[in-house]
Amino acid sequence: MTNPDLSGAYALTGPDDCLRLYADWADSYDSDFAAGMAYRLPAETAAAWMRAAAPTGPVLDVGAGTGLLAAALRGLGHQGPIDAVDLSPEMLDRAAQKTLYRQLTVADVTRPLPLPAVYAGVVSSGTFTHGHVGPEALAPLLDIALPGAVFALSVNAAVWDRKGFASAFEALGPRIAGLDQADVSIYGDEARGRDPDHAADRALIVTFRKT
Ligand SMILES: C[S@@+](CC[C@H](N)C(=O)[O-])C[C@H]1O[C@@H](n2cnc3c(N)ncnc32)[C@H](O)[C@@H]1O
Repeated sequence: MTNPDLSGAYALTGPDDCLRLYADWADSYDSDFAAGMAYRLPAETAAAWMRAAAPTGPVLDVGAGTGLLAAALRGLGHQGPIDAVDLSPEMLDRAAQKTLYRQLTVADVTRPLPLPAVYAGVVSSGTFTHGHVGPEALAPLLDIALPGAVFALSVNAAVWDRKGFASAFEALGPRIAGLDQADVSIYGDEARGRDPDHAADRALIVTFRKT
């Protein structure tokens, strides 16, 4: 087996492929990938959500992985409950060890979610990207959010047009308000030496609220 990496992740072809890759990647994701690439997207997404939200009520971390976004929210002072949802049980196992989350759920976020509609915030970093999740997840996520819930979702800039995010947000019409986006670097300078093909990748952090 070759070591899991970003090229493998971007080339995923469906849920079974995703489960296999992240089962292999969970152990080294933080120490090898996130540290080695100076992965800054969880911190950028957490900061965007904190700027847009009054930090009360439960927050759902979508495609939570090993919990880097919850750690960033805690680092910025967010004290309310954070729940995690992810397709990969192995990634959620690593997240559980950090005791950042109130509850962890294994589920596919492109389908109706087995979660109650109690969320005052919905956040996601690194999940709306190549080979992962597209705009089809927006409606299931709105379904489990409270009216007024604040969303901060990162979308890899290279899939914004390709996966039709602009028209998907437009189609949500009056279900959302205050749509805004910020263009950020996904990785820090250290990534240039390690993975020059992806070091300059960018994401749009989309913020909005459910009406
Ligand atoms: C690149 S990782 C990002 C993890 C974490 N949010 C971070 O920023 O480090 C992408 C995560 O999305 C999850 N994922 C991919 N497709 C999914 C789906 N359809 N439903 C739920 N989670 C999914 C993967 O299992 C993986 O943990």
